[in-house]
Amino acid sequence: MFPYQRHRRLRKNEAIRSLIRENYLSPQDFVLPIFVAEGENIKQEIPSMPGIYRHSLDLTIKEVKEIWDLGIKAVNIYVKVDENLKDNTGKEAWNPDGLMQRTIREIKNAVPEMIVMPDVALDPFSMYGHDGIVSKGEVLNDETNDALVKMSLAQATAGADFVAPSDMMDGRIGAIREALEENGFPNVGIISYSAKYASSFYGPFRDALDSAPVDNQEIPKDKKTYQMDFHNAYEALREVEEDINEGADIVMVKPGMAYLDIVRMVKDNYNIPVSVFQVSGEYAMIKAAAANGWLDHDQIVLESLTAFKRAGADMIFTYFAKEAACLLNS
Ligand code: PBG
Repeated sequence: MFPYQRHRRLRKNEAIRSLIRENYLSPQDFVLPIFVAEGENIKQEIPSMPGIYRHSLDLTIKEVKEIWDLGIKAVNIYVKVDENLKDNTGKEAWNPDGLMQRTIREIKNAVPEMIVMPDVALDPFSMYGHDGIVSKGEVLNDETNDALVKMSLAQATAGADFVAPSDMMDGRIGAIREALEENGFPNVGIISYSAKYASSFYGPFRDALDSAPVDNQEIPKDKKTYQMDFHNAYEALREVEEDINEGADIVMVKPGMAYLDIVRMVKDNYNIPVSVFQVSGEYAMIKAAAANGWLDHDQIVLESLTAFKRAGADMIFTYFAKEAACLLNS
């Protein structure tokens, strides 16, 4: 018998398609990661991330005002640290007048409503390019947590709305939560990179901050002892559960496009806002294919971002935030 269900009835034209549409993308879904460098009037393009720049603080403020007007409500901050300020302790990370803390203060000053989510991890401050303190060929867990607590308190003092630990040490969410409570920052939130995989998609980001693990026999050559093994899915649920128990307000899955299964699992298993990070390598792939005329840039950007919503993400960290907001607003 001829099918009674003709699914194409619901696809006949844009009007009916829009009536049954399940997911929408909006500039309010986005968090823009930004790279900040010392100096004035500086705008350096990152070669592997065309269209993304390291901006000095003055230009960063201009940029933040612009994206606020486009409807983007949050920024995730990374700073490019001078080589001579890097060491194995990462202590520049909690310098009250360090670039990170100055950036937080100036953004909150210029656009007070902008949600500021600075990155918490030692790698941009580490002479070894690791997210923690290195000793005898190992990245130390508990000693690193002490450093992450100092870094989080410095950021909270500077005015951060959320701290965003991206390091994957065990127990850091509990340590940071306790320190924030005890030091008068009960309303500073934690967005935890709960399920962050050891991924080759981070390559361009490490170029941007010059933060790749250094090539040296004495130190681990990759981040596999703390970031997750990409063969595993259920392990992500253990990580998320732990972070929720320790006081995370929002959890994250990272990278994005190759990890949509994890986003869906986390969303289905826990009642907590879920974020996803479309990382530097994903951005680079789309830009490179589009530059070659192999893909339609604007359509791919919107399709890839919508896929995150469909997978269950409540917010999306993406370097396309500004371009996508312009597309959605037009
Ligand atoms: C490090 C950090 C990384 C990213 C965000 N924070 C890289 C890494 O873990 O090596 C990657 C972001 C991206 O690739 O866009 N704490």
